[in-house]
Amino acid sequence: MRTFEQVKNELIQSPKIWLVTGVAGFIGSNLLEALLKLDQQVVGLDNFATGYQKNLDEVKGIVTESQWQKFTFIEGDIRDFDTCHHACSGIDYVLHQAALGSVPRSIADPITSNAANVTGFLNMLEAAKQAKVKSFTYAASSSTYGDHPALPKVEENIGNPLSPYAVTKYVNELYANVYARTYDFKCIGLRYFNVFGRRQDPDGAYAAVIPKWTASMIKGEDVFVNGDGETSRDFCYIDNTVQMNILAATGSEEAKNEVYNVALGDRTTLNELYASIKAALVDNGIDIDKEPVYRDFRAGDVRHSQADISKAKEKLQFNPQHRVQQGILDAMPWYMDNVKV
Ligand SMILES: NC(=O)c1ccc[n+]([C@@H]2O[C@H](COP(=O)([O-])OP(=O)(O)OC[C@H]3O[C@@H](n4cnc5c(N)ncnc54)[C@H](O)[C@@H]3O)[C@@H](O)[C@H]2O)c1
Repeated sequence: MRTFEQVKNELIQSPKIWLVTGVAGFIGSNLLEALLKLDQQVVGLDNFATGYQKNLDEVKGIVTESQWQKFTFIEGDIRDFDTCHHACSGIDYVLHQAALGSVPRSIADPITSNAANVTGFLNMLEAAKQAKVKSFTYAASSSTYGDHPALPKVEENIGNPLSPYAVTKYVNELYANVYARTYDFKCIGLRYFNVFGRRQDPDGAYAAVIPKWTASMIKGEDVFVNGDGETSRDFCYIDNTVQMNILAATGSEEAKNEVYNVALGDRTTLNELYASIKAALVDNGIDIDKEPVYRDFRAGDVRHSQADISKAKEKLQFNPQHRVQQGILDAMPWYMDNVKV
């Protein structure tokens, strides 16, 4: 089995054609950046529902001119099968990230989340199968563990979903499994656990906790903690997530038709997280004199989340290098530049 370094060298020697859906979003734009830096050819698909042109512009500013020339952007919607069919043509590896994230968004509007996350997923899966791509890797979610109490989370043991979002992500896994059985089209599902890092949107009602708190602290606004602050998550820095996507896409046949936890295998409480972000901001010259404001627990949230990542380590040589505190420090310059005070 190859290490990430070996895989990257092979890709540089023998570039491939990748399709990244959700390319204008947080994870998608980071995948784009990593792939272009490896001189890959990348097709990106996005409808800007929650993604931004500025994320693509930022990647353009980071990679070389000749690397950027290897990128083709399709502005389109995965709810439209023909768009997916067109995007998959000639592709080696699909990294399917496009979806409407956020548990609260899905509770407020389950129908729109379902359309993007279930209909859109099925369109992409069918289009990729018809195009006979080499692999189809998709963003699953730790929300699939639902109310299962065991910690750490092991891939085989899931509970009942706690939100419409969790249902949509579980349906993705069910479809992927059925496609393997019915059509011998084998996918790889990546159950992300709270990914964070540069270009994660700090704005809007559905922002994730790290960007939301970071932006509030930079602006001197109150930080709200849902519950007592002892809720915990397995926060995973974006570079670890990028690594896993590339390993999964290029992995062996035996590693396919599986789902994998993508996380650190660690647990950070919200109170610890608050202290880490505060420390990183102090490092960047911003003093925080306010205390966080505690309020009610949020509907649909699980209390604790921590992954067992042994399967990803064993079958795909996953080797997450970035710890939470280091990730927060690495992401901070981006927030300092991008949060408007
Ligand atoms: N960020 C996390 O912690 C996390 C955790 C678990 C799972 N995920 C999953 O990872 C994927 C990427 O999440 P992200 O954090 O980068 O979110 P994001 O909102 O930044 O990116 C999602 C992208 O998909 C695009 N998109 C949405 N609906 C679309 C549609 N109908 N057609 C085309 N494009 C569409 C959006 O415009 C956006 O650019 C999603 O599938 C999400 O559910 C993320």
